[in-house]
Amino acid sequence: MPMEVIITDTPEEIGQLGADVVAQVLASKPDAVIGLATGSSPVGIYDDLARRIREGELSLKECTAFLLDEYVGLPEGHPESYRSVIERDFVSKVDIPNDKVHSLNGRAADIPAECAAYEQAMQDAGGVDLQILGIGTDGHIAFNEPGSSLTSRTRIKTLLPQTRRDNARFFGDDLDAVPQQCLTQGVGTVLEARHLLLIANGAGKAHAIRDALEGPVTAMCTGSVVQLHPHVTVIVDEDAASLLRLTDYYREAWAAKPSWQGF
Ligand code: F6R
Repeated sequence: MPMEVIITDTPEEIGQLGADVVAQVLASKPDAVIGLATGSSPVGIYDDLARRIREGELSLKECTAFLLDEYVGLPEGHPESYRSVIERDFVSKVDIPNDKVHSLNGRAADIPAECAAYEQAMQDAGGVDLQILGIGTDGHIAFNEPGSSLTSRTRIKTLLPQTRRDNARFFGDDLDAVPQQCLTQGVGTVLEARHLLLIANGAGKAHAIRDALEGPVTAMCTGSVVQLHPHVTVIVDEDAASLLRLTDYYREAWAAKPSWQGF
């Protein structure tokens, strides 16, 4: 399976197609391990999964999930901690048991031990079958900011000022309220997932998508490591795809794809 790039006419279609990818994984493995991104990009997928579960089409009851990252230092239950965000955007809408959703503790007294235990828990669960990824405007996946080692593991990182500005919208536009540090799965950790699903919408992501898919593989855009992975599905809307060179080719390939092939 190579990297497949699907360009949708509307941002809404990203949610539907993304949910199709999750459904495909669940069809062959009902107890799949799903890697969850937070933020705005995956919300459409989570909403579409919720609809399918309500309509009895699929179930996440047997699944396990791991979050990509968490802010350091937010008080427990803070509405913008990624644990709270995923409970609001995902767990409360679908049928996965809350205790099967693993997240990093950004208040841990021993951060290296917390990160090592997280890596161990992922291994004990058998590894991630499908990792849902958004991408930052600086090209980050998870919170692996430019300059992150491409073999990095789960650890503490300092967020770029750009990322904090981008995320200030979740903190009432108060930049000072956005934590400076986070815990994040490393690039090497993310690359171990068996299937990567990268999603992006809007013109603000066009540079990051161009650099990640068609630029050099570089620590300056950690999303570019998708080029090293054997099984990647990228779903982007027209705006996010607007700076890609091979858009005609991606569209042709998608239109000509045999239905048996799946994602
Ligand atoms: C979030 C994460 C980040 C976001 C990225 C895009 O768990 O790992 O990499 O996916 O910052 O965020 P949105 O989707 O809010 O634009």
